[in-house]
Amino acid sequence: MIIASNLKTNLTREKTISYMMDVENFIDTISCKQDIFVFPAQSSLNLHVGKVAQGVQNAYATKNGAFTGEIGTEQLEEFKIKTILIGHSERRHILGETQKSIIEKFNFYKNLGFKIIYCVGEPLEVREEGLDVMMKYLELQYEGIDTKYKNLIIAYEPVWAIGTGLTPTLEDISNIHLKLKEKSKAPLLYGGSVKVDTAKDILACAEVDGILVGSGALNVENFCSMIKDAQKLETN
Ligand code: PGA
Repeated sequence: MIIASNLKTNLTREKTISYMMDVENFIDTISCKQDIFVFPAQSSLNLHVGKVAQGVQNAYATKNGAFTGEIGTEQLEEFKIKTILIGHSERRHILGETQKSIIEKFNFYKNLGFKIIYCVGEPLEVREEGLDVMMKYLELQYEGIDTKYKNLIIAYEPVWAIGTGLTPTLEDISNIHLKLKEKSKAPLLYGGSVKVDTAKDILACAEVDGILVGSGALNVENFCSMIKDAQKLETN
């Protein structure tokens, strides 16, 4: 399974280094067979050596250049980063990224062979319109994306569930994942208010290949506990 922690705009570099080391030590003690990712804040990136893959929450589709406030592959190479989150709802809805710019970024990082965790998800008003409208909305987020890309992981993250403490029912998660799997065979993560107490049941849902966790993973012990849940489910 894939267990990913999105640290967003949290933790200093020092705290991030200690977070990563705690995760490394923990996965060693359980001989972890899961794929673990951590996405630190940009200024907390570090040259990390170990089993945990360090990814970047965002980067611009460039090597370098005049893009104030952005980073490109020149900066990612310094930290040997080959994994990127693209299309996260906070980038779409707070930072105003359009599907067009997301496609450009996707293609740029795909051409460099990056592992891409591509996020899709619907806002509450869309969900309230019913399943058909919701699936049409999600379909638009697949437009222009190479759904057969070999290094692709998709994360289904309902916008209304991110950071709110709300989650779809387990049945809803399974049903939506089943439909999304028709669009792409890539591993499909669930994200949106996954907590230490709910991770196990979500991971046990049909068609869920892992989780992408924000606030619930800020505490490293909680994140490790989720990793342990995944490991247990796979060995059962
Ligand atoms: P959350 O965030 O777990 O805090 O809801 C998840 C995400 O944004 O990836």
